Amino acid sequence: MPTSLPALAFGGDYNPEQWPAAAHREDRELMREAGVDLVTLAVFSWAWLQPRPGAWEFGWLDEQMDDLHAAGIKVDLATATASPPPWLTHRHPEMLPVTQDGRTLWPGGRQSFCPSSPVYREHALELCTRMAERYHDHPALALWHVSNELGCHNARCYCDTSAAAFRTWLRARYDDDVARLNDAWGTAFWSQRYDDFAQVLPPRVAPTHANPTQQLDFARFSSDQLLDNFVVERDVLHRLSPGVPVTTNFMVMRQTPQMDYLRWGRELDVVSNDHYLIGEEDGGHRELAFSADLTRGTADGRPWLLMEHSTSAVNWQPRNRAKLPGEMIRNSLSHVAHGADAVLFFQWRASRAGAEKFHSGLLPHAGTDTRQWREVVELSRVLDAAEEAAGSTARNQAAILFDYEAWWACELDSHPSIDVRYRDRAEDLHRALSARGVGVDVVHPSTDLSSYRLVVVPTLYLVDDAAVASLTAAAEAGATVVITYFSGIVDESDHIRLGGYPGAFRDLLGVRATEFLPLLSGQSVVVEGLGSDPVTADTWAEDLELAGAEAVATYADGPAAGLPAVTRRAVGEGTAWYVATRLDPAGTDRLVERLVDETGVETLPGAADLVEVTRRVGEDASWLFVINHGEAPAPVDVHGRELVTGRDVAGDLRVPPGGVAVVRESARPAGREA
Ligand code: GLA
Repeated sequence: MPTSLPALAFGGDYNPEQWPAAAHREDRELMREAGVDLVTLAVFSWAWLQPRPGAWEFGWLDEQMDDLHAAGIKVDLATATASPPPWLTHRHPEMLPVTQDGRTLWPGGRQSFCPSSPVYREHALELCTRMAERYHDHPALALWHVSNELGCHNARCYCDTSAAAFRTWLRARYDDDVARLNDAWGTAFWSQRYDDFAQVLPPRVAPTHANPTQQLDFARFSSDQLLDNFVVERDVLHRLSPGVPVTTNFMVMRQTPQMDYLRWGRELDVVSNDHYLIGEEDGGHRELAFSADLTRGTADGRPWLLMEHSTSAVNWQPRNRAKLPGEMIRNSLSHVAHGADAVLFFQWRASRAGAEKFHSGLLPHAGTDTRQWREVVELSRVLDAAEEAAGSTARNQAAILFDYEAWWACELDSHPSIDVRYRDRAEDLHRALSARGVGVDVVHPSTDLSSYRLVVVPTLYLVDDAAVASLTAAAEAGATVVITYFSGIVDESDHIRLGGYPGAFRDLLGVRATEFLPLLSGQSVVVEGLGSDPVTADTWAEDLELAGAEAVATYADGPAAGLPAVTRRAVGEGTAWYVATRLDPAGTDRLVERLVDETGVETLPGAADLVEVTRRVGEDASWLFVINHGEAPAPVDVHGRELVTGRDVAGDLRVPPGGVAVVRESARPAGREA
């Protein structure tokens, strides 16, 4: 019988094929010492399981599964289809991915396959089937892990096979009617009219800007193809290994917009995510917090698994910063604070050879007499102490709407300004809300918004009518809706919503702009009205007129001098705000301060710019997580039992600099719904 997942799982990728048998024995002893209870096995094992066509060698994996089980360690078993072996690409070079400018991506790295390749799929499904048949009832099996980071290196393939698959996808989208494709793609422009689907290609490198809707549809198609690779393997696993949950690891991070994870999440039994900090960036913990909330959004609010992060440096950034003492534990707890029920790492033992030999692991090259190892053991203790919070989740009153399609469309070429970056506003507003203790759900625009008091809509460039109606209904019913610049500009086909900007949201917001006035590189403008002294803004301005809204803040200079920069309009029982420029951090904080005051949205105790506070709520209890990223002790007015130290607190919790705390609250805080 397969087993269940550990409550708050701890462990990581385990690649025993890289090491001799003596190391395996040591691995299991040290895993026990570190409290590892879940490992991900066989992610890159295809060439070991099927060394040549028709030859299967499962003996070594049988042994690993049995030995891990005997050591009390559960397994997240990969289907091993992530990286095709050399014999396969050698036989079938037509399965290799091709870039936009026609270069073949040759084997020698990993993920050397076109996501639309029937050859790849046939062989991958054979392997997946054999894995499921062999291990479906193994007592160590807790989870199936399809492929690995689908789309990490091959998200968009432009080969002839992809072109044919793209045409099939387009025929389905446009009801086999090329006239509908012509309408959607606006092909009256530049003589692009197609007479037959056979003429349509992926947006390969062209003499100048490719058709934007062609690019957008290709982004949708590419995401769907990769998801399909997951779905076909998942269906095999569901059939042959019923009852065992199936996941694939997402890459919800700023650098990876290619996969529409908010849609993908619906296909997974349990969502898992890989997250890596950009080590050279200040305040990476804020990007981490946003990504973790977005990951919870992909899981529709349910607990999810942190499948990978790093104990210290990675190997793939230009300069790979080692984590500071305590940073790995803070990162780990932060993921848990935002809803993770597992803290796993890439990888168990730092490699000796290969491209990732300088990537940190749970067990470093230098062995166990290291600060890194001691922190690993300490993290395991902290997770054990907090284990009772597993299964609980957030119940927040504020939401940020997020949409991968809007991201793709917003960042296409030939737009008013390359400085409009989609995740930028979302992260900044998330940061400002978090600093005031406002817990935030990051959700797709199709989410039911009726339980939120505050709904923030950053740069939702592309929006459908249903989302506009849902936001309008939320405001009418009493919510405060805040929309930022370059939102509501186009429909799903990337066609302008006519009549003035911000097209889809003009009526809700009571404003109308006739022209964008993007700011130049390095240019900033002064904005007055948000508090007693002025703040600055950059990137964006518009010649905004009021059409029912009041001006809250005004530009003091720049191309929109004297015009409104922030507006507010009463709508039914609620309010709609428009923020027409990119406020600096001080301006964003003032705006958020006012929104928090006006909406009365719940704020958690102790939160500050460098003190992250979240609450997870279970059936009978709630837990307050505090992560102190600062250099001063963090006082928190909370009552209950602090689980990391095992002490009771009565309004007098002080979390040390760089420390973490998890408090089981003694009573449900006043005013919270059951
Ligand atoms: C990804 C992969 C891992 C490893 C790490 C390195 O997350 O899934 O196999 O390459 O990156 O950071």
